[in-house]
Amino acid sequence: INHLFTTNELKVEEIQQILADAMKFSEGMVWKPEGQMFSANLFFENSTRTKCSFEVAERRLGLSVIPFEVQTSSVQKGETLYDTVKTLEAIGVNTLVIRHGQDRYFDELVGRVNIPIINGGDGCGHHPTQSLLDLLTIYQEFGRFAGLKIAIIGDIRHSRVARSNADALTRLGAEVVFSGPEEWFDQHSLSSQKFKPIDEAVLQADVVMLLRVQHERHQKKGSFTAADYHRQFGLTLDREKQMMSHAIIMHPAPVNRNVEIADSLVECKRSRIFKQMENGVYVRMAVLKRSLESIQGGYTNENSYSE
Ligand code: CP
Repeated sequence: INHLFTTNELKVEEIQQILADAMKFSEGMVWKPEGQMFSANLFFENSTRTKCSFEVAERRLGLSVIPFEVQTSSVQKGETLYDTVKTLEAIGVNTLVIRHGQDRYFDELVGRVNIPIINGGDGCGHHPTQSLLDLLTIYQEFGRFAGLKIAIIGDIRHSRVARSNADALTRLGAEVVFSGPEEWFDQHSLSSQKFKPIDEAVLQADVVMLLRVQHERHQKKGSFTAADYHRQFGLTLDREKQMMSHAIIMHPAPVNRNVEIADSLVECKRSRIFKQMENGVYVRMAVLKRSLESIQGGYTNENSYSE
């Protein structure tokens, strides 16, 4: 079964295959699983992009999406994640997307569940489909990863996006540097990576990838005001002027405008922030295809492009 829990578990060729399929979906490729297939999206943490784009992806692939809301489910009666997943499997759901606040929530499911599970984000751990959509956005822009300099800036310790992207980008041949407040570095998982002052990182980067300040994961109140953070570690209008002419801006969103990035830069010419969201649908279609193909056939009509 092709689950997807982290980018680390994907070989480079598998990443390339997912990106190739995602690009074909962006060009209108049609792929459908054989017969009726059911999916459910279990979001124990809030989401707009990931949840909604998975749902669009599932519907575009012809899946029947079973509505599941944690707040109205038997999770509220104390049912565990494992029993919830086994229940959905038993009643015929064919694939699940799960976002959960606990790091590596999926460890207890591996080998005990017979339907593919796609990780929509686990605590401060991983967010593989965000990483894949980021990769697609970078590839569309530059046509390669090798030799690119990617600056990942901000709340690194709490960022599953930073972890997933650093792993995948490095394996694909890009150079990843980090910047942001030292108190938010993660010395354990990122100790081998390079840290640079923001002004240096921005100057040299082909991609400036900003991370959201994750207030909800901070144990103590931060030592920065929004204005302080923006001045010291944010992409200000002045810093944007220092970027190379071809360089692009990315952010997984939601964006704290005027904190990580100046308001007017969110939709500026360099920004690919909304392109990332669009690409999320194609990447999630490709990831669902990979998972569903591992349990059952499907068919592609190569001639069936919408354009
Ligand atoms: N980027 C991202 O994961 O956004 P959501 O939390 O809205 O899904």
